[in-house]
Amino acid sequence: MTRAFAPGKCILFGEHAVVYGQPAVAVSIESGVEVSISESNRWVLEGMPFESSRHPHISHILNSVFKYSGPPLEIEIKSGLYSAAGLGSSAALSNAMGAALQELVSPDENLDLVSLARIGHSAEANAQKGRASPTDTATSALGGCIVVSGNPIPGTKHIFESTLETPEGSRKWSISRVEIPKIEDVWLVLGFTGVGSPTGEMVEGVSELLKSNPLKMAEIEAIGEITSSGLSALSSGNMEEVGLAMNACQDRLRNIGVSSPELENLISATEGHSLGTKLTGAGGGGCMVSLTRNPQRVAECIEIAGGRPLISRFGSGGARIIVQEN
Ligand code: MEV
Repeated sequence: MTRAFAPGKCILFGEHAVVYGQPAVAVSIESGVEVSISESNRWVLEGMPFESSRHPHISHILNSVFKYSGPPLEIEIKSGLYSAAGLGSSAALSNAMGAALQELVSPDENLDLVSLARIGHSAEANAQKGRASPTDTATSALGGCIVVSGNPIPGTKHIFESTLETPEGSRKWSISRVEIPKIEDVWLVLGFTGVGSPTGEMVEGVSELLKSNPLKMAEIEAIGEITSSGLSALSSGNMEEVGLAMNACQDRLRNIGVSSPELENLISATEGHSLGTKLTGAGGGGCMVSLTRNPQRVAECIEIAGGRPLISRFGSGGARIIVQEN
């Protein structure tokens, strides 16, 4: 049996705009997805017969990436993330699946996190009708604080380039790492609205909006500028400025129609105890995030307002193989 873990992610700034080449900044969170794979005499997922059409990420990795032709597999998934909630659960699933399968077919090869991020991105793009930035998969694979942008960003450590043919043309991203000062007294508190929101549909909705109203591209560009100033604040450890940039980002996300009454409810319930608060991920439902020095209080506010909280420290590790103990 092989087992692998990949973390979820929280986008601090730049969701949606990153699909159009603007920068985004994301951090890995402590919770994630663990996948175990063992050879079997029939195909099984979570104790049920595996139907590949119902699991596009897993079947893409098995068939298109690995071209797997070995014995049937029994696949188990343990997730600490809400799904379709903006926390990168499908990216974490793709990465954990890719890592566990690689360990099964090539146990002597070391896990290459950049290759894994590419595998995860191709699975996401396949499931999102060709419109996926590498943000979720790169952050989950590499861990820490990751910047994804159409152009390399000065002051960050370049890691790899990624390209994708999208329905709107060819896209290219530069993926880099940011070293952030040790942040001891600030936490991220994620609040799940309880409303699932498929990323592919939200990304398509923004694409339709920009086609029908090209002036909305100004909002996308404004998110890019806010992201750049949020990134400078983060690099210098100025968390008050980081919070203000998060709030400014939320204003622009509202203007492109990706917030929702449920998200706004949790955002207003937490703003009194937050340095900054905004939706995170695709929006339309899913999660908001609060940057705070008072995580317990924010978690209580989220619960009282009807949401489900998840407290995380900043930028934990990336994807990894879980070594079996005999
Ligand atoms: C989803 O977590 C982030 C989006 O920007 C989509 C993407 O980057 O592929 C909404």
